[in-house]
Amino acid sequence: MTNNTGRKRDVAESFSGATDGYLEGNVLKQGADLEQLVDWCSDATCALDVATGAGHVAGSLADQGVSRVVASDLSPAMVQTATTEYCGLEGVVVDAERLPFPADQFNAVTCRFAAHHFPDPEAFLAEIERVLEPGGVFAFEDLCVPADPELAAYVNRIERLRDSGHVETYSQAQWLDWLDATELTVETVHETSRELEVDAWLDRMAVPEGDRQRIRSFLSDAPAGLETEFEFQYEADGERLASYQTGVVLLHVTA
Ligand SMILES: C[S@@+](CC[C@H](N)C(=O)[O-])C[C@H]1O[C@@H](n2cnc3c(N)ncnc32)[C@H](O)[C@@H]1O
Repeated sequence: MTNNTGRKRDVAESFSGATDGYLEGNVLKQGADLEQLVDWCSDATCALDVATGAGHVAGSLADQGVSRVVASDLSPAMVQTATTEYCGLEGVVVDAERLPFPADQFNAVTCRFAAHHFPDPEAFLAEIERVLEPGGVFAFEDLCVPADPELAAYVNRIERLRDSGHVETYSQAQWLDWLDATELTVETVHETSRELEVDAWLDRMAVPEGDRQRIRSFLSDAPAGLETEFEFQYEADGERLASYQTGVVLLHVTA
């Protein structure tokens, strides 16, 4: 068994224990970002949502009238949650880096807030390129780190403490470099941010008390550059971090 196989098994297990948080959490259930991704797929008839989680993107595609929507995830419990919550989805347990579909199978592929769990993002992009028919759309969203490597490393250290399945959040520039090496074309890049309420964010992965305290002390000791870039907001006592704006990138890509 390779390290990545073991890591992926751990990811699937940890997400299988977190289905409720991902189903009910408003951060993922709705938002202008979700609408944007779905809008980029407005001409789709056959779509694949990779790492569907509780199925919010797949469900929105089906609601928009896409006739065939495959909701796929590494975690069987997430696939079950997505297909129970949203009508008309086909559920499949798959690894994003080894998609079990023939070439040119879909005219839209989506992937939202998941690629930071993939050990080999270039293998993932190669699979997207393979399964998309010519002219198809890839609508992608993920967290992104600041360009400064020190701040990027600090963010990733915190993310890994919260979630052992976190591999790495990359910068927007890194995603564009990887895409540049494919035959896919980047049509639109949106760099934005998303408010994370610290307690809710820790609750979603059921982080144990000891790790919560370590994460909070990392956040308290964060470099000033991160505090500014992520717009830290404190509770009334001025000490306890309530929320911050984490970086997010949305990409509209065509095959
Ligand atoms: C934050 S959730 C996804 C949220 C969802 N896309 C949404 O918009 O609501 C991350 C998901 O990635 C899945 N995942 C992690 N690694 C994966 C992999 N290698 N292949 C497929 N899914 C994976 C996890 O099981 C989890 O359900």
